[in-house]
Amino acid sequence: MASSDQTILVTGGAGFIGTHTVVQLLKSGFKVSIIDNLDNSVIEAVDRVREVVGPELSERLEFTKGDVRNKDDLENLFSKTKFDAVIHFAGLKAVGESVANPRRYFDVNLIGTINLYEVMAKYNCKKMVFSSSTTVYGQPEKMPCVEDFELRAISPYGRTKLFLEEIARDIQKAEPEWRIILLRYFNPVGAHESGKLGEDPKGIPNQLMPYIQQVAVGRLPELNVYGLDYPTKDGSAVRDYIHIMDLADGHIAALRKLLATENIGCTAYNLGTGQGTSVLEMVAAFEKVSGKKIPLKLCPRRPGDATAVYASTEKAEKELGWKAKYGVEEMCRDQWNWARNNPWGYQKKKD
Ligand code: NAD
Ligand code: WQD
Repeated sequence: MASSDQTILVTGGAGFIGTHTVVQLLKSGFKVSIIDNLDNSVIEAVDRVREVVGPELSERLEFTKGDVRNKDDLENLFSKTKFDAVIHFAGLKAVGESVANPRRYFDVNLIGTINLYEVMAKYNCKKMVFSSSTTVYGQPEKMPCVEDFELRAISPYGRTKLFLEEIARDIQKAEPEWRIILLRYFNPVGAHESGKLGEDPKGIPNQLMPYIQQVAVGRLPELNVYGLDYPTKDGSAVRDYIHIMDLADGHIAALRKLLATENIGCTAYNLGTGQGTSVLEMVAAFEKVSGKKIPLKLCPRRPGDATAVYASTEKAEKELGWKAKYGVEEMCRDQWNWARNNPWGYQKKKD
């Protein structure tokens, strides 16, 4: 792909989804500017992005340590560079933490995003790809999840995503020149095939795959399986896991659509595979590729968990021309490759 002069601002670009997407943006010919306050990431992750793309493409990447809640941080960037679009990942995402500390979630996710819209409008950059989530479907009665389902939030985190979707729709309705794509991610897992980039959560992971990974490298003793009494094929809950590189490519497809389509309005797309996989199937797939036994501990259901959630992929396939390529085996293979090369994540083990 030939280089373009188009420059994309990526908020939260040092994080899990951000780093993988930045690699694909650079490889697709875009220039990238990251703003991240490193609240849930480390600068080593950006160094690894540079390592993966090589010295030439690295010159097309800038990093600024800054906070989307701080208008001055944003204005400093927008006053220097004309951005063609923004991909907005920056935010907090832990459901449990959002229940314990909702104000923090409203501050970072809501205020941060509203600030961003204000500064984008001031500098006449009105193209936005926003990180939404399967969480906006709540606990849907029908499967697969289709984009026009009624939306519902069941946690403060979920409410921030739901409000931010509504805010996006209101802004675009009032000012039709805005082009906004809302991407509803299902369960992103796996890692870059190089083994140099992956998910590196702080503290004990809440999510299934980072937890399995830490059991496999000996950081945690066993996996708690939350519920084996679901009405599913093996009793464990079913989700739509999507390889992080497929998700990253979904952003490139969405961005191209946004840049090319004057009347896109404010449109939501699911990014999932459409395939449901149970917790036990995921454990078996990880054990197979890693050769590690994952000891299991049966626990009660986790409050708020749905039985089965998976995406309808039709709209993204048809309108974005994007479809996930990888299956569960590749997700586990690449996650294990990352884990065994980086058992303590980006930084070395702290004694
Ligand atoms: P992440 O925590 O790895 O990345 C988020 C990044 O944003 C981090 O690098 C963090 O330091 C940065 N950040 C946080 N607050 C900031 C602020 N005020 N200013 C600037 N930077 C800030 O998370 P992720 O998994 O990469 O998620 C990215 C986005 O996708 C989030 O908005 C999340 O809600 C959404 N999402 C994630 C998932 C998932 O399972 N990973 C699923 C659906 C939606
Ligand atoms: C998957 C399955 C658990 C951990 C979350 C957010 C959602 C979105 C995606 C951001 C469930 C089971 C888990 C463990 C387990 N994120 N599990 N033992 O809950 O589908 O979705 O991430 O927007 O908003 O809620 O993902 O990985 O936490 O759980 O048995 O230690 O694994 O019960 O069935 P979830 P998850």
